[in-house]
Amino acid sequence: MSLELRNVSAGYGTGAVLHDISLRVAPGEIVTLIGANGAGKSTLAKTISGLMTPMSGEILWDGVPIHALPTALRLQRGIAHVPEGRQLFAGMRVEENLALGASICDQGRPGAGVLEEALRLFPVLAERMADTAGNFSGGQQQMLAIARGLRASPRLLILDEPSLGLSPKLVAEIFALIRFLRDRGLSILLAEQNARAALAVADRGAVIENGRIVMEGPAAVLLHAPDIAERYLGVGVAATADSGEVTRMAARLRACVWGDAGVAG
Ligand SMILES: Nc1ncnc2c1ncn2[C@@H]1O[C@H](COP(=O)(O)OP(=O)(O)O)[C@@H](O)[C@H]1O
Ligand SMILES: [Mg+2]
Repeated sequence: MSLELRNVSAGYGTGAVLHDISLRVAPGEIVTLIGANGAGKSTLAKTISGLMTPMSGEILWDGVPIHALPTALRLQRGIAHVPEGRQLFAGMRVEENLALGASICDQGRPGAGVLEEALRLFPVLAERMADTAGNFSGGQQQMLAIARGLRASPRLLILDEPSLGLSPKLVAEIFALIRFLRDRGLSILLAEQNARAALAVADRGAVIENGRIVMEGPAAVLLHAPDIAERYLGVGVAATADSGEVTRMAARLRACVWGDAGVAG
């Protein structure tokens, strides 16, 4: 299943915040949307999942227009949105938070078992099933928010700033989980201010400024583009760490994603 946006504009009230956005996410691909605070990342995420309706343009899901469908129907078709700020219920236990994502799922999908597999690989949630989400660290809360999204057996997971406020070690774990999901066949749209870490895990990237896509390309190319480095690689946890920390983070990512040791310490 591929996602395609064609000339999408959207906004709040009468003013457009997104202008003429065209973007594709192919099956099994991580596309990162990078941009500063206020650039329009969350607005785009909400427009794709159906929390907002475009003012103009089209959103196609495997060639079929979905931009007029409500969120619940888009979720049924495989588009799940893990919102910015996690939006968990702090007083509720892990399994209760997870259950909130369960009611509209289609267990017949190939991705249906991915949550169980993720819980085995990233056991922190399974270990704390009976604990309330409010006692969790930011990283654990983000894992839980993603796990809740996985209850819907999604084909496309939209992740809005999953690394926000996390330490480099936890960013590495979350991004390892994202790579794992991609390797299981999910498509991922990853909105991030932490451009360096996002481009390190993504296949392709798009840069959004003032509601417009101003640059797009393979993640490895964007990572080395001088204007991206100047504008965006100074932002975020990894970029503010020394190069030794970045190297260690990359090593942890490799161990997590390609090694067989689960999440390295
Ligand atoms: N609920 C809202 N009502 C009106 N304007 C909003 C609302 N949410 C966001 N905006 C505006 O839309 C623009 C894009 O915001 P947003 O999509 O949240 O950016 P990002 O996620 O990249 O930080 C900003 O100018 C922001 O002020
Ligand atoms: Mg946002």
